[in-house]
Amino acid sequence: MKGDFRLSRRRTTVAGVDIPAGATLMVLNGAANRDPRHFEDPGEFRVDRDDAREHLAFGRGVHSCPGGSLARMETRVSIERLLDRTTEISVAESHHGPPGARRYRYMPTYILRGLTQLHLEWAPARTPPGDR
Ligand code: HEM
Repeated sequence: MKGDFRLSRRRTTVAGVDIPAGATLMVLNGAANRDPRHFEDPGEFRVDRDDAREHLAFGRGVHSCPGGSLARMETRVSIERLLDRTTEISVAESHHGPPGARRYRYMPTYILRGLTQLHLEWAPARTPPGDR
């Protein structure tokens, strides 16, 4: 999730910024996850980061996402199934351009960061999952 909104119930200060009572704030979880002061090379996808569990994609505190465990499980199963059946997965240059100059389109929303389309190329796995 890119971000969400909050209504301040009382006057407060966040990171040196005065927030009046009744203000609508946008909390940018996505930006926090890419904060180089917290995460080393935050733009890189590294599943084995020591601090991977400190991300805020599911929020934190009383309103943290109750669907987080389901979403994590669905993601794990989807990626495992994909890797079981494919090898050499790459982004299709014909649709998204060459490495270093990729072009993607995102859904026009402040809340989610979702691609409208992702074109991939892959080779089938050498041994289909049923034959192992
Ligand atoms: C990758 C998938 C998902 C992401 C990144 C995500 C992320 C989030 C985030 C950031 C929040 C807001 C936390 C806050 O306000 O501080 C949230 C709230 C919520 N999510 Fe998710 N979510 C995901 C999937 C799901 C699923 C699968 C379900 C239900 C099956 C779900 C149900 C909810 C509900 C009910 C809330 C509101 C919680 C509250 O306000 O107390 N989410 N989610």
